[in-house]
Order: sequence, then C-alpha cells, then structure tokens
Amino acid sequence: MWKHAGPGSFARNALAAVGVAALLATSALAANAAAANDAELTIFDGVYTDEQADRGKDMFASDCAACHGNTARGGPGSPGLIAFTLDSKYADQPLSAYWDFMVHNMPPGNAGWFTDQEYADITAYLLQLHGAPAGENELEGTEEALSQIMIVPTP
Ligand code: HEC
Repeated sequence: MWKHAGPGSFARNALAAVGVAALLATSALAANAAAANDAELTIFDGVYTDEQADRGKDMFASDCAACHGNTARGGPGSPGLIAFTLDSKYADQPLSAYWDFMVHNMPPGNAGWFTDQEYADITAYLLQLHGAPAGENELEGTEEALSQIMIVPTP
C-alpha cells in the first residue's frame, strides 16, 4: 500500500507517470501530424473535372481574358493567374484563398458577378491551364471544400 512506502516516493512515482504520459502524448501528436500530411489534398490530386474546366473556360474567355490574357499569363496592368502565381505567390495556401480573391474582387467593379460555384468552375479552368490534372469529382464552390485543398508548387 502506498502509505507504507518511504517519504516522497508517491510523488516520485506520480512524476514518473506524468513523464510517461507526456511522452506518449507527444508521440501520438507526431503520428497524427504525419497522418494529416499524408492525407492532405493538393491541387495536383485531380480535384476538378475536364467538363467543369470547359464551363470555366467560357466564362474566363468572356469576362476575364481581356485583362488576364487568353491563357491567364497576364496582360498589361493585370497579373498572370497561373505558373508563378500558383507555384509561388499562393504556395502553401488553401485553394479557398485564391477563389476568395476572385469572388470578392473580380472582375474589378463587378465582384460577385458569377455564383460561388461558377468561380469554382473558373478556378478549375485555371488549374487546367496551370497543368494540374483533372479527376473524377468537380471542385465544389464552398469555403469548406476549397479550404481542404492546398496550393503547392508544381511537383
Ligand atoms: C479589367 C481588368 C480585369 C478583369 C476583367 C479581371 N481582372 Fe482579375 N485582376 C485584375 C487586376 C488589375 C488584378 C490585380 C489586383 C490586385 O492585385 O489587387 C487582378 C487580380 C486577379 C487575381 C489575383 C492574382 C494575384 O496575383 O493574386 C485573380 C485570381 C483574378 N484577378 C482573377 C480574375 C478572374 C477569374 C476574372 C474574371 C471573372 C478577372 N480576374 C477579371 C484585372 C482584371
């Protein structure tokens, strides 16, 4: 029984137990972080469909290309939207950051001209121009879905 143990040993045992628990907790956290990284979706994981990109292409051509160029590489006074912009400027940000910017600012003076889903369709087209592969599922135009997909530099 613990009350017969020498003075201080209860405290020592308790401290040892806390130490072990802390070690276990640390390794569990490390394991979770590794699992989260493995599971992380990126723009190169086939996050849009070709059909969706086709829809986006029409909207981009009519309302964005005049400034950003037909292939979104930029024009006089307007930045490119792919290549360096995704590989570097938006690298390690969620795709929602890029989409949010369009929803709230583009086209200039007419933000919100398209629906949230249509801006996601335009995003799909831009990903296609950027060289990210298409997949089976459409890109969903919600903050929740787009915040799960990371923009990473072209592998
Ligand atoms: C009248 C010209 C014009 C039109 C039309 C236009 N843009 Fe832009 N766009 C700009 C300019 C100028 C900027 C830079 C603004 C800034 O950085 O604040 C910009 C910035 C952007 C950015 C951010 C780029 C970055 O480097 O962060 C995105 C994304 C974007 N536009 C998408 C679109 C889309 C999609 C459309 C069509 C729905 C569109 N733009 C239509 C002029 C235009």
